[in-house]
Amino acid sequence: MSKKPVVAVAGATGAVGKEMLEILEERDFPAEKVIPLASSRSAGSRVSFKDTELTVQEMTESSFSGVDLALFSAGGAASEKFAPIAARSGCVVVDNSNAWRMDKDTPLVIPEVNPEDLEQHKGIIANPNCSTIQMVVALKPLYDVSRIKRIIVSTYQAVSGSGQKAIDELETQVRRLFNAQDVQPEVYPHQIAFNCLPHIDKFLENDYTGEEMKMVNETRKILGDPGLGISATTVRVPVFYGHSESVNIETEDKISAKEARAILAQAPGVTVLDNPEENAYPMAIHAAGEDDTFVGRIREDDSIECGLNLWVVSDNIRKGAALNTIQIAETLLEKDLLRVPA
Ligand code: A2P
Repeated sequence: MSKKPVVAVAGATGAVGKEMLEILEERDFPAEKVIPLASSRSAGSRVSFKDTELTVQEMTESSFSGVDLALFSAGGAASEKFAPIAARSGCVVVDNSNAWRMDKDTPLVIPEVNPEDLEQHKGIIANPNCSTIQMVVALKPLYDVSRIKRIIVSTYQAVSGSGQKAIDELETQVRRLFNAQDVQPEVYPHQIAFNCLPHIDKFLENDYTGEEMKMVNETRKILGDPGLGISATTVRVPVFYGHSESVNIETEDKISAKEARAILAQAPGVTVLDNPEENAYPMAIHAAGEDDTFVGRIREDDSIECGLNLWVVSDNIRKGAALNTIQIAETLLEKDLLRVPA
C-alpha cells in the first residue's frame, strides 16, 4: 500500500492495548491516523498518544470503515464477533486473543520464526499466546539445527497476562496483607499475593488447563510439526510483568550447552545471559520493558542422550503480546501484504 494505513487499536484502554499505543509511538509506526476503540464503558475517555490525547470510541460494527489495520486485544468474545466484520470491510486484523489461533485459515505468526505464513492470510492473523511466543523464539534456532522431539515446560507467569484488573488485584492484595486486612480474590480463584497458582485459564477434560494446551497446540502449529511432543505446566506467580519458563528439550542430534549458547547468541530477538559465576541469569525484573527474550541457565540434561535445559524470560505484555502484534504489522507492510485478498 502506498499511503500510510489508518490503524485501529481495539482494547485501547487495557493492559496490552495501552502498550500497543506506546510501541506504535516508540517505533514510529507509519500510521496516517490511530483510532482507539474499547467497550461502551470507556467511550469518551482519553488515552495519550505521541504528544496528544485521543478520544476512545465504542467498538461497533461500523468502527472499521476506512480502517486499513486493526490491532485487537479486547478479549476472545469481542474478537470472535468483530474481527470477521473488520476483515469483511477490507481491514487486516492482527488479533491477540485465543479466538482465531487454531483456525486453519488463520496464520499464527511470530515474525522471527514463521513470517512466511503471513503470505497465506485471508484478513485475520493471530498473535500466539504469550508463554508460547517466548518459548518458541528461544527454541526455533535450536530446532533449525536439530529437530526437537520433546519439550517439557513449566511456566512462572506474571499477573499482567490476565489484564489490568489482575495487576490491580495483586497490588491491592499486597497492600491489604501488609496492613493485616483480609483479601477477597476476584480475578483469580485464590489469593495471588505471596502465592503460586498452578491454574491458568480453565481446566479441560484432560485435566490440563487451557493455557497448557495453548502451549502444546500453538507450538506445533507455528513450527509446522504436529508430531512434536510437548508437556506443559503453567503457573501464575505474584510478579507484575515478565513470564519465566523452565524449558527442557530432547533433540534428535546432540547439541552441547556451548553450541546452544553460540546458536542463541546469533538468534534474532534473543539475548543470552548465562554467566553463573557472576550470578547472571535472566530475571523478570530485568526483562520487563525490554523487547528481547532472555535465555540463560543453559545446561545439558544428563538424564538423556540429547537433552538441554534452558531458563527463558520475556516481557509478556511486550514480546508476548503488543510488540509481537506490531512486528507482525510491520512485516505485513514490508511484504506489501496489508490488504484483504478478494
Ligand atoms: P473497557 O476498558 O471499556 O472495558 P484488559 O485485558 O486489560 O482487561 O483490557 C481489555 C480491553 O478490552 C479493554 O480496553 C476493554 O475495554 C476492551 N473490551 C472488553 N470487551 C470489549 C468489547 N465487547 N468491545 C470492545 N472492547 C472491549
